Formats: sequence, C-alpha cells, structure tokens
Amino acid sequence: MHKRVGGAGIWGLGRYLPERVLTNAELERMVETNDEWIVSRTGIRERRIAAGDQTTTDLALPASRQAMERAGVTPEDLDLIIFCTNNPDTVIPAAGPVLQGKLGATRAGAFDLVAGCSGYIYGLSVASQFAASRTYLTILVVGADMLSRVVDWQDRTTCVLFGDGAGAAVVRPVPDGRGILSFRLACDGTKAGEIIVPAGGASRPATHGTVDAREHYLRMNGREVFRFAVTACEKVAREVLDAAAVSAEDVALFVPHQANLRIIENSARRLGIGMDRVMVNVDRYGNSSAATIPVALAEAEEQGRLKQGDLVLLVGFGAGLTYAGMVIRW
Ligand code: ACO
Repeated sequence: MHKRVGGAGIWGLGRYLPERVLTNAELERMVETNDEWIVSRTGIRERRIAAGDQTTTDLALPASRQAMERAGVTPEDLDLIIFCTNNPDTVIPAAGPVLQGKLGATRAGAFDLVAGCSGYIYGLSVASQFAASRTYLTILVVGADMLSRVVDWQDRTTCVLFGDGAGAAVVRPVPDGRGILSFRLACDGTKAGEIIVPAGGASRPATHGTVDAREHYLRMNGREVFRFAVTACEKVAREVLDAAAVSAEDVALFVPHQANLRIIENSARRLGIGMDRVMVNVDRYGNSSAATIPVALAEAEEQGRLKQGDLVLLVGFGAGLTYAGMVIRW
C-alpha cells in the first residue's frame, strides 16, 4: 500500500475511439447470441472496432495528442512514456517506443506496462512515483488496447464483451494535497490461467497446430473472473480510501473498469456509492481493457463531471488476475 503520495497528478486527458460501431444486432448474425442476453448479462449495447489498417499505437496517437494539448505540453516536453496495453502492435518491439517515434517525443524514454485491464492504474502509479520524486516532470501515460484482434469471433462467451480504444493522461507534479493521494497494486497470480491467450508466448510459440486449435485467441473463465472481480473491487477500494483517510461518502466520482455493468453496480452498492456518482460507458464501448479508465476519465471531464477539488476513486481488475485502486484529488 502506498499512502499519500501527494505531489503528482493528472494535467490533461485525451481519448480516441475508432469510428466503426459494432452493435449487438450485428453480433446476432455472427454467433449464437441475442441483444437481450448481452444487455442483461453485461450492459453492453455496442462497442468500437478498429479499422483493418489501424494498430494499437494508431489509436494511442490521437488520444496522446489530445491529452498533451489539454495539458499544454509539447512532444519535446515529455520525459517518459508509459504505454499500458495487452496487445501492442508487435510482440517485439513494445508499443511505447513506436508511439514515441510517431509523436516525435525525442527526449522521452518509453516502455510498455502489461497488467491486464488494471494496467492503467498500475501505469498512473508508476508515473506518480517519478513525478512525485521529481525524477521526471512530464510523463505520458497511455492506455490502449485492440482486443478485437485477439478475441475468437466464433466464441460467443468472449467476443460480445470487448471493444477497441485508447486514452491518455499527462502526469506532472502538483501542489501537495492534490493529485494522487493513494494507490494499491495487487494481484492473485494463482489465477493466471483464468484470462489467457495460451499460444504465441515463450511457453507455447505459435505453430500451425496452435493456430488450428485457436490457441492464439483469448480464453476466459467468465464466471470465475466475475466472482473475483466483485470481491477484489470492494477490497481494494476500501484499502485506498482508508490510505487516503477519506470515506466512500466523500467520493464525487467513482470510475471503475468498464467490463460489465453488473460488476460496476455490485461494486458501487457494496461501497454505498449511488449510481449517480458512478461513471458508466460500458454500454457504448464494451470492455476496451487498459483503455477503459482513461477513456472514462476523459469523458467525465468533457461532461463537466470532474471539478477541481473533487475526490475520484479508480478501481480495476483483469488478466493476471490483477486488481488495483487509486484515490485522486482533482
Ligand atoms: N449469448 C448467449 N448466451 C451465452 C453467451 C452469449 N454471448 N455467452 C454465454 N452464454 C450462455 C452460456 O453458454 C451459458 O449457457 P449454459 O447455462 O447453457 O451453459 C449461459 O449463457 C450462462 O453463462 P454464464 O457464463 O454463467 O453467464 P454469466 O452470467 O456468468 O455471464 C459473463 C457471462 C458476461 C462473461 C460474466 O461472467 C462476466 O462478465 N464475467 C467477467 C468477465 C470480465 O469482466 N472480464 C474482464 C477482464 S478481461 C481482461 O483483463 C482482458
């Protein structure tokens, strides 16, 4: 647990969602499913899917430029780029350096951070340490994923859930008592097999056999992840609220990972946070993995739901199984 980091916060937010909308009605024509099942089990009505010639860094680029413009920083100002993703353009190299090149951020170091759908909270936490210690002053934290390229479009239990997207934030020093007040990074690695792409990594390099067996696609034990998520979200939220010496009643906006409306509602109810104080866009974008939290934050700001001094609670969970929480004074 990291208590009261202080001194580091978000200066500017950006987001980019691909134009192509994939509706539940279209999915009904692709796999054995229906709109009623998808909406009642997940709350998802449509999701965005990247164009065939777009890559993960292509989604990240406009989101990053928007965040930098809103923060008033130029590519040359960037000291570091942390690219949170589960699906970089290529296995080697990482997406961070590719984005650095596209941005022309010549001074910036860059690396990828892989922590499932919790990745963005992990990334903000790492950035906050560099900014709070004044090691690096201007850090771009990107959350971008393109799970449409790794889901099995013949598997109705997963393909209805995910979408593509990108969000970004510029993290810089802020006056004490503002910005990131607390965070917790957690995981249960014994559940690593619950969300997995079995082949294509070092343990099972891609072969004709793995491709024929569709092992290069994402597999998920949805029921187990659901069970894990509802307890993990509540636990980590209470930990970061305690660490920041605030309560759930003080939270102006709860921004959970957007995976499933039932998990979001369940977490909010357990914490005693009314849905009027919860950011929800899973109905329009589905689960865009590491992108959901920065996209939701950027939308909340555009909707005037983030005001200076507001207390914001972030919670995420995902492959690993990882989970994480953060409290920010806006
Ligand atoms: N359409 C119609 N029926 C379906 C579909 C579908 N798309 N998918 C599954 N079903 C069927 C199942 O086959 C099952 O049928 P059966 O009872 O005859 O076997 C029935 O619906 C119920 O299936 P469950 O898996 O029990 O459904 P559940 O209510 O658990 O909902 C879901 C499934 C939506 C996947 C849920 O478990 C969930 O959201 N889990 C969490 C997943 C998640 O949030 N992952 C995020 C992390 S991802 C990351 O980090 C990359």
